[in-house]
Amino acid sequence: MNLDKLKTTDGLDLRGRRVLVRADLNVPAKNGAVTDATRLERIIPGLRDLSSRGAKVIVLSHFGRPKGGPDTENSLAPVAIELGKLLGLPVSLAADCVGPQAEAVIEGLAEGGIAVLENTRFHKGEEKNDPEFAKAVARLGDIFVNDAFSAAHRAHATTEGLAHVLPAYAGPLLMEEISALRAALEHPKRPTAAVVGGSKVSTKIPVLTNLSAKVDKLIIGGGMANTFLLAGGVEVGKSLAEPDLVATVHEIMRAAKARSCEIVLPQDVVISPRFEAGSPSATVSTIEVPKDQMILDVGPRTVAHYVDVLSRCNTLLWNGPLGAFEIAPFGEGTFALARAAAARTREGTLVTVAGGGDTVAALNAAGVTGDFTYVSSAGGAFLEWLEGRELPGIAALTR
Ligand code: 3PG
Ligand code: MG
Repeated sequence: MNLDKLKTTDGLDLRGRRVLVRADLNVPAKNGAVTDATRLERIIPGLRDLSSRGAKVIVLSHFGRPKGGPDTENSLAPVAIELGKLLGLPVSLAADCVGPQAEAVIEGLAEGGIAVLENTRFHKGEEKNDPEFAKAVARLGDIFVNDAFSAAHRAHATTEGLAHVLPAYAGPLLMEEISALRAALEHPKRPTAAVVGGSKVSTKIPVLTNLSAKVDKLIIGGGMANTFLLAGGVEVGKSLAEPDLVATVHEIMRAAKARSCEIVLPQDVVISPRFEAGSPSATVSTIEVPKDQMILDVGPRTVAHYVDVLSRCNTLLWNGPLGAFEIAPFGEGTFALARAAAARTREGTLVTVAGGGDTVAALNAAGVTGDFTYVSSAGGAFLEWLEGRELPGIAALTR
């Protein structure tokens, strides 16, 4: 996959042209109301640009995980309303993403008009990447713009298939996501560090393996650090850990060493008998975790050490919290490191790129999201990129 082959619609005359935009409108929602509009805000500049150039803008997206047929719970109707509010422009909704209902709505669009088509996953052909379904969608437009980086790890009809049947372009958010990740991984300002946290080693083995070949410092936190501690012969009491992965951790550590990547582990930790709000907590050295206690966060000495490691780095890639940040006080380690990274970013001495659902929630809780150089809108797709995998939605745009 040659990313330099991605083309955008820059310079194209789009007046009166029907542009099918694959966006990711898969936003968190509750009882028919959008609870976090970040993903909508991120696609707005791209939609405004197409509209102001006179295109007929037709937005395609999945929403939730319906079972291949329509249902009210997964309707994009409330999302289309929210999108219209944020755009400050009328947005029409077609009750289907193919066929006469979609055609009628698109025929009614003036130049610059915007329509959202109902959930693409209401058709089984979407997730099966059925070429016939892709063709039926393609009939509605003249060109295809993929602006859904966060769905690019899915080889579905509207994320991948459409690129084979229409002239296909990369949207501005997709381009922005890719350039941020390339700036951190492919041509970064060295030395580079990655913070990898989260609960389990098992879900992050490919990430750890790939990153250890790319960064200079691999800083480990979260429940997965416990398995690294176990691998070093340290007892972790009742902590979440994966003893069967100790051998895998040894392999990761050997490979990292061979590539001069330093693995950085906690020195002190915050422990508690239970993972519950209000349960008593204490800070101890990692070698002093009692049998009946569990590790729920990194301690202040660890944070100071991580900050010190980062002080010699110019680029930081962050995926995964350092502790169980959902319950106080176990977010303090993550928040403190996030604030330190944010301060370095503001001062212009550190490039910071972060992504993943939990990571973004933790950065939001620390109040530093706006200070990071780039915060991805993607979860699964961000992770697969960190694994070094080719994302089918992007690969299709480079052919
Ligand atoms: C996401 O939210 O990660 C993307 O929209 C993809 O959704 P999916 O995991 O249901 O494919
Ligand atoms: Mg997901």
